[in-house]
Amino acid sequence: QPTKPTAVLNADLTTGTINRNLYGHFAEHLGRCIYEGLWVGDDPDITNTGGIRNDVVEALRNLHIPVLRWPGGCFADEYHWKDGIGPQHLRKRMVNTHWGCVVENNHFGTHEFMHLVELLGCEPYINGNVGSGTVQEMSEWVEYMTFDGESPMANLRRENGRDKPWKLKYFGVGNESWGCGGSMRPEYYADLYRQYQTYVRSYGENKIYRIACGANVDDYRWTEVLMQQAGNWMDGLSLHYYTYPGVWEDEKKPALQFDEGIWFETMAKAYYIDELLTRHSAIMDQFDPKKRIGIILDEWGTWFGVEPGTNPGFLYQQSTMRDALVAGLHFNIFHNHNSRLHMANIAQTINVLQAVALTDGPRMLLTPTYHVFEMYKVHQGAEQLHLHVDSPLYTMDSASIPQVSITASRSADGIVNIGICNIHHADSASISIELRGETFSAIEGRVLTSGELRDCNTFDQPDTVKPAAFTAFTHEDGMLRLELPARSVTSLALRA
Ligand code: AHR
Repeated sequence: QPTKPTAVLNADLTTGTINRNLYGHFAEHLGRCIYEGLWVGDDPDITNTGGIRNDVVEALRNLHIPVLRWPGGCFADEYHWKDGIGPQHLRKRMVNTHWGCVVENNHFGTHEFMHLVELLGCEPYINGNVGSGTVQEMSEWVEYMTFDGESPMANLRRENGRDKPWKLKYFGVGNESWGCGGSMRPEYYADLYRQYQTYVRSYGENKIYRIACGANVDDYRWTEVLMQQAGNWMDGLSLHYYTYPGVWEDEKKPALQFDEGIWFETMAKAYYIDELLTRHSAIMDQFDPKKRIGIILDEWGTWFGVEPGTNPGFLYQQSTMRDALVAGLHFNIFHNHNSRLHMANIAQTINVLQAVALTDGPRMLLTPTYHVFEMYKVHQGAEQLHLHVDSPLYTMDSASIPQVSITASRSADGIVNIGICNIHHADSASISIELRGETFSAIEGRVLTSGELRDCNTFDQPDTVKPAAFTAFTHEDGMLRLELPARSVTSLALRA
């Protein structure tokens, strides 16, 4: 046994609350995320509630999904919300130029989205159009959704069958305005942001949390300019970071065909979110030392090549333990940034990129990433606990990264929950955690791993990768000793 524990957990020392919105989602009009994935209209073969598929809603409710971002993404800056209200058969059809140039019939619009979030029991996060929209259009959308009195937009909403306004807290002013949302310079966008957000009104009790478009990955200058020139007018600043091996400009590498070198590179790139959050936070600290403004990481996740034979514009990819570990690492790192990181949204909920569920007609499968969201849901809103980790190293060629990543929190019912990722593609890990500050009498564990490196869940075999009971541990005199399988995510629940 190692003389020094791998980790020391101080169960009586909290380091802040883990915002439940770190477990948020993102659904765009892209490929089969909205259409087929969430919305099936009047398809008689798929059980649905008002056009929204029941199996997916049930699966997402089981994750306690806190917030859902919509309608994009790049699509948001081409979306004109008035095209998506009123009788469905009269709605304008448009071309989804970003994603496969397919026809968008606008059958899923504001009312359908608000119905979806009601069914999910989560908060809506709407992203407005700056790139090709007007101030008036954005202003009227907010009025349509949230104004209770007599006004042109509130009356229009009533004509469309909704009397009372909806509650809407999170509103994004443009998406990737440095790229697909308008190719802007930060100075120009900062001014536009100030102008547009002026008309994003908080009506009555509905207080809007305004989110400005933030940086692409490590564009620290964007953060600096935005904070300096528009910080006073925002509540949140977004950030986008995707994990992929190789370089962005090259063709994306497949989701199911990878060797151990690509596995290692993927893990190293997932760890990079820590540096990004640290450095963007440090810039924000200069302008906002009290941390009023949150980082909203409203797009994160793996980006691999599309599955063979599928539309390249649909970004449909499979998912393995590699994705599950990218998710687990992100969550562990997110918890350490809970004072500045207010929200994170995986891209994207269903059928797109690092989806938590895939659908095929009436069939649905849960991906390994889903299971990590489920195993980690106990951390939502919990008090993070102080943890010192001294991980063994995972080395490949001349590079090394920590092999084991751990997080711990106490939920409202007093249970201490620990999440552990062993990111090694082939090696198990013997680790020990010294438990201080509390004596525990019962410990239960679950583990997610796969028999083979590239295992995934398919529609014919949907349970190849799923959590199982975890018993490979001992607990004696406040020392927890665990044998973690290779490529695994483990969750433990400790009761006093
Ligand atoms: O999630 C897919 C796309 O990635 C989004 O539409 C865009 O914001 C980002 O570039």
